[in-house]
Amino acid sequence: MKKIIIAIDGFSSCGKSTMAKELAHEIGYIYIDSGAMYRAVTLYCIQTDILKEETIDIQRLREAIGTLKVCFHFNRETDHPDVWLNDVNVEDKIRTMEVSAHVSKIAAFDFVRTAMVAQQQAMGRDKGLVMDGRDIGTVVFPHAELKIFVTASPEVRARRRYDELTAKGATVSLEEILTNIKERDYADQHRPVSPLRQADDAILLDNTHLTTAQQLEWLKEQYQQAIQ
Ligand code: DC
Repeated sequence: MKKIIIAIDGFSSCGKSTMAKELAHEIGYIYIDSGAMYRAVTLYCIQTDILKEETIDIQRLREAIGTLKVCFHFNRETDHPDVWLNDVNVEDKIRTMEVSAHVSKIAAFDFVRTAMVAQQQAMGRDKGLVMDGRDIGTVVFPHAELKIFVTASPEVRARRRYDELTAKGATVSLEEILTNIKERDYADQHRPVSPLRQADDAILLDNTHLTTAQQLEWLKEQYQQAIQ
């Protein structure tokens, strides 16, 4: 059967990775979370003091970026790929508040993006790939056969994130989450390099009123149409 590239972009906390992961699993494609790569680079900066007390040593980061090995290995227990940094599995270390607080600054450097985009494009050489992120349909795979741009109201996204965090036992404020989501939306859309925007040929999915099961059904229909 014809193999394609599926690019899923959109705002943060929209459920992109959930739908991308589930689709890839169902159709036997590789799933790549491109945000995890920027998170791994951020973790490296923290571990090596390139990022210290809110200051980034740009020169050291520039020198290091070409030597960093960020890749994915399939985890049989979770049935999904884990991100590895320089031969160490860092999947559990990249979702901390510390990494989340700094990743958008690291992801905004053009030389960081150039290095990550080159690795992402190499992963798509054989197609059969679902990748989610912010610039997948616009910059990484502008010729992807299927492009989806996901959005939902900030209030609904904040509520989903709040439910997710409180279910894990975290004490968080809904208001604080909503403010953070709005700030990240603005930062993602207004950065000078590869800002978040819907590709002209992307299909818009507003999942404000959809359940995860409904959106997966919708996505599978788009995939069936794309491979015909
Ligand atoms: O999807 P996420 O929240 O894990 O992404 C982490 C950060 O990386 C977020 O600040 C946006 C950025 N990112 C990006 O700039 N380009 C991508 N293709 C994916 C993520």
